[in-house]
Amino acid sequence: MNASSETFITPPIAFSRPWLGEEEIRAVTEVLQSRWIVGGPKLAEFERRWAACCGAERAVGVSSWTTGAFLVLHAWGLQPGDEVIVPSLTFIASVNVIVHAGATPVFAEIDPHTWNIDPEDVARKITPRTRVIMPVDQLGLPCDMDAIHALAHPRGIRVLEDAACALGSRNQERPVGSLAEVTVFSLHARKIVTTGEGGMIVTNDHVLADRLTRLRHQGMSLSDFARHQASPTTFENYPEVGYNARMTDLQAAIGLGQMDRLEEILKRRRQVAESYRAGLADLAWLRLPHVPTGMTPNWQSFQIGIGPDSLLTRNQWMERLHAAGIPTRRGVMAAHLEPPYRSMNARLPRTENAADNTLQLPIHPEMTPEQTARIVTFLRSNGTGNQTP
Ligand SMILES: Cc1ncc(COP(=O)(O)O)c(C=O)c1O
Repeated sequence: MNASSETFITPPIAFSRPWLGEEEIRAVTEVLQSRWIVGGPKLAEFERRWAACCGAERAVGVSSWTTGAFLVLHAWGLQPGDEVIVPSLTFIASVNVIVHAGATPVFAEIDPHTWNIDPEDVARKITPRTRVIMPVDQLGLPCDMDAIHALAHPRGIRVLEDAACALGSRNQERPVGSLAEVTVFSLHARKIVTTGEGGMIVTNDHVLADRLTRLRHQGMSLSDFARHQASPTTFENYPEVGYNARMTDLQAAIGLGQMDRLEEILKRRRQVAESYRAGLADLAWLRLPHVPTGMTPNWQSFQIGIGPDSLLTRNQWMERLHAAGIPTRRGVMAAHLEPPYRSMNARLPRTENAADNTLQLPIHPEMTPEQTARIVTFLRSNGTGNQTP
């Protein structure tokens, strides 16, 4: 490569990129050297750290959000015919898990400003068969848990908060994880902190946490590490049918390294989000994410709406940005439009409108100010609709 071509190459922009480094490599190496690669002490340490971060008493590490949420619904004893209210505007895992647990999803509309579940529509969807409400902190923005609890508690309905994307977000200064009876997080590669795959269930209910700890390991009454430390004739037993939803100690070691970075991750994401918000605020055709007073998102994603003043559709915008080397993703999907759920004939116009007219811009801790500026400039100079000067 000669000097002149180097000068003109613009570094590619990643849509999302896990921020990992020497710390995580060292932590994994130590676990490998210890030979306790699963069922060992690192997982317990990671769980304690996660619970403390969320202001909760217990955290149970599992193999994914999906397996974690399944174990919770299973432990709550959902039966066929039981209903779980969930937004359709969510990753389809939130809905699939209800079906795995043998219950029926009931779709609620979103608030068109926040793109989060609309408590007023939840109220309309409650029936005598409603057993659980599953609000989702979409894109890392906490949903209105106080309104959800006001509906659920007097009726004895349980609440499972889907905080797959919301580690580090705050609701009226309270950390997500401290608000619901049970909160489940994801540690997939696109999440705020990642272990590649993984999930964390958070609760103050010790009886439930002990049961989930058994259920993730085939119902086993003693962990491998506890058995290892006990007398050779201390045998485990299996009081109920369990599953394999274990998180490894290798994942836990990576996760602890990630937790060390959490404050910096949140700060850097906030900086990217603030640059987008400042640079795009006056574009009439573009809708910025709305953050209600008192909510502090972690900026897991930065989703924008393409308004009626835009001369380009959402998909045309995505094509144009792609051609300019700026990767995007469509906004959050509408689960009720996918084949497994279409026959339910849910009518959710606000959800469909959001799913059709939103896209997500790149955001991750290693984005440079130059990259963010390039995206802002591109959106400003290619906005073919009406713009205020
Ligand atoms: C809102 C929401 N719920 C659930 C999930 C599923 O998480 P996992 O892949 O860890 O099972 C995701 C993953 O993207 C998500 O965004």
